[in-house]
Amino acid sequence: MFFLCYNVVGDNMEVKIINLDHFGRGIGRVDNKVVFIPNTLIGEVVNIDIVHEKKNYLEGKVIKYLKQSDDRVQPICPYFVRCGGCDLSHMSYLMQCQFKEDKVKDIMHRTINSNINIKPIIPSDQSYNYRNKVTFHVKEKIGYYQVKSYEVILIDNCYIADDKINQLIPSLNTLQLDHIKQIIVKTNNNQIMVILYGEIDVEDTLIKLKNQVDTIIINSEIIYGNGQIIKTVGDLNFYLSKNSFFQINDYQIINLYNKVLDYCDFKGNEKVLDLYCGTGTIGIYLSRYCQTVLGIEVNEDAIKDANQNKKLNNINNISFMLGDIQYKIEEIDLKPDIVVVDPPRKGLELKVIESLVKIKPSKIIYVSCDPMTLARDLKILQEDYKINEITPIDMFPQTNHVECVVLMTKIKR
Ligand SMILES: C[S@@+](CC[C@H](N)C(=O)[O-])C[C@H]1O[C@@H](n2cnc3c(N)ncnc32)[C@H](O)[C@@H]1O
Repeated sequence: MFFLCYNVVGDNMEVKIINLDHFGRGIGRVDNKVVFIPNTLIGEVVNIDIVHEKKNYLEGKVIKYLKQSDDRVQPICPYFVRCGGCDLSHMSYLMQCQFKEDKVKDIMHRTINSNINIKPIIPSDQSYNYRNKVTFHVKEKIGYYQVKSYEVILIDNCYIADDKINQLIPSLNTLQLDHIKQIIVKTNNNQIMVILYGEIDVEDTLIKLKNQVDTIIINSEIIYGNGQIIKTVGDLNFYLSKNSFFQINDYQIINLYNKVLDYCDFKGNEKVLDLYCGTGTIGIYLSRYCQTVLGIEVNEDAIKDANQNKKLNNINNISFMLGDIQYKIEEIDLKPDIVVVDPPRKGLELKVIESLVKIKPSKIIYVSCDPMTLARDLKILQEDYKINEITPIDMFPQTNHVECVVLMTKIKR
């Protein structure tokens, strides 16, 4: 009897890459099973080892390239593949953008239909050194968690991080790291915030970091500076605290918010609901062009920042509500013409979708950082809303992640 066409995990075999999956991994076949292989491109032929064997598929790693694609570029990062954070650095930036646009098309066409109007992706002016926030973990020195594991990969330099973060790494490595669990660094044009978690020697931290950073927080306590940095988007400024969300690519925020503004197509008298509003950024950005805005957000620090940001920018026609949108949305007395939603990766809660359908705004503008959950939500919303167009935006160069902004208009019955 014939049992196995391939052998056990670890076997060295030749595979031709016939496609790419949504994570940018090459897809090949070993006998009747699909195999996913990072750092490969369509048309390449590679010798691989199988590293995981699942019921319906295999995962492989390249041992040798037998034929390389002309589209391949040499990744500049020495931690590429091992770290796993950047999974597209072996593609030219142009190819990365094409990959993401095709990924959005593929997901939308499979989940919804093939007539959806997907616009060309908006590329990032800066494809390296764009990240304004990173999270380090510790194993003797600092590094990143390898993707999908708790293994710390020590790094001296992260090519997608703001250079101010890289310049701080040697000093962070001089801290008494034994009891430090996590270090978060956030930046703006000229400021640095460091947040440390664990059992930390305050004096030692102050001596070693104070001259290089603007604020230091240990666990929940601000030990240096005022616990905030000020971010700039266009002609607006925004306070940002340690727990508040901020878009991580400073070079693309303006393009993202301008796309939302463009889709709003304001006449001036509109009432806007800004759901998942964070520090109030999108709402404040839009407030100058419409009658009134209400933002809702669950994070207390972010709402504090949002109220400060309203004052900082002299905006009088916006207010904010603290709480879980699923419940707060039922309490609002505003009848919005436009609702902007910008949820986390998990997308909209079903209860929120049901409320939106009841509220009946004439437009919904959906900002999403995960096309899979976006497609799931659009499939439900399309019963009541026409999906006019989707614009992908590259907020995360070198990685497979892609942001989308969607314009939806109420179907008249
Ligand atoms: C992707 S961020 C968007 C923030 C903001 N729109 C911006 O551009 O900076 C998502 C935000 O949703 C908030 N959030 C997550 N779940 C929520 C919920 N159930 N109710 C209210 N806010 C929520 C998070 O705290 C976070 O600030």
